[in-house]
Amino acid sequence: MFLLLLLLLCCGTLLTCAKTSRHQGSHTPAHNHTDDIILAVILPQHNTSYPWAWPRVGPALDRAIAHVNADPTLLPRHHLRRIFANSENRDGICSESIAPLMAVDLKFEYNPWAFIGPGCDYTSSPVGLFTAHWGVPMITAGAPAVAFLLMEMYTSITNTGPTHKKLGEYALHLYRHFGWHQHALLMFSDTKMGERACYFALEGLYTEMHEENITTMDLVFEENKGPVNYSELLHKIKDDGRGEWLVFCFA
Ligand SMILES: *[C@@H]1O[C@H](CO)[C@@H](O)[C@H](O)[C@H]1NC(C)=O
Ligand SMILES: *[C@@H]1O[C@H](CO)[C@@H](O)[C@H](O)[C@H]1NC(C)=O
Ligand SMILES: *[C@@H]1O[C@H](CO)[C@@H](O)[C@H](O)[C@H]1NC(C)=O
Ligand SMILES: *[C@@H]1O[C@H](CO)[C@@H](O)[C@H](O)[C@H]1NC(C)=O
Repeated sequence: MFLLLLLLLCCGTLLTCAKTSRHQGSHTPAHNHTDDIILAVILPQHNTSYPWAWPRVGPALDRAIAHVNADPTLLPRHHLRRIFANSENRDGICSESIAPLMAVDLKFEYNPWAFIGPGCDYTSSPVGLFTAHWGVPMITAGAPAVAFLLMEMYTSITNTGPTHKKLGEYALHLYRHFGWHQHALLMFSDTKMGERACYFALEGLYTEMHEENITTMDLVFEENKGPVNYSELLHKIKDDGRGEWLVFCFA
């Protein structure tokens, strides 16, 4: 929560500076004028199977906003306000087609100073492209995938949560410490169209290890295409990876 608050403050301060300098030289005396700073929040509204759903994030955000508004020295003559939009579709799924529509609606109706969310990888992607295009900060814990860092078009995103790149760096740290140079990666394959938490998490490990020239091998199996012979997989890992290090990831 404090990280979020700090970010809000940082972001607010930067924007205040930008706004103040814009006011300089204009003819409107803005001495006792209160500007609303709108934060556009796009998150799953009800479905708490998403780690950054509104019921989890909302109370912290509201507390941070109240805290900033209660202290006139933090953002003088400004008032923080949030506008919320749901990124769920009718089935309660965090939807990559709903989230960008919400972003466009909020942008043109309220001209927000920043976006909070969206809270899922697939929804963050299109909204991240829009916010970069608009030059509006997008603050989210829901964009941990490596692609958000590798691709140059997501310049507006500030991550407030752990990213999968950091997970990879952490694993590398362990490898260096113990002198491990070979790696066996047990991976599941899915045909999901929605959130692929395990896929993205493993991607973080995989890319970091490749940069370190650590040998990787992968085993692909599909759980929903008949029974998987797990003991066979384990034997394969034992033979090929020499049991130095294993990563298991199941959905
Ligand atoms: C600013 O305006 C508000 C009402 O709009 C008033 O209550 C307040 O006293 C004013 N403050 C100053 C410093 O003039
Ligand atoms: C919540 O989201 C999960 C994961 O996408 C989905 O399987 C589930 O049906 C949703 N639940 C509700 C109540 O909408
Ligand atoms: C990995 O291998 C490449 C090519 O052999 C080499 O240029 C690079 O320095 C290596 N990286 C590390 C971290 O050892
Ligand atoms: C699974 O694989 C092991 C080792 O290859 C084999 O001995 C066993 O019969 C297999 N089990 C099934 C159910 O196919």
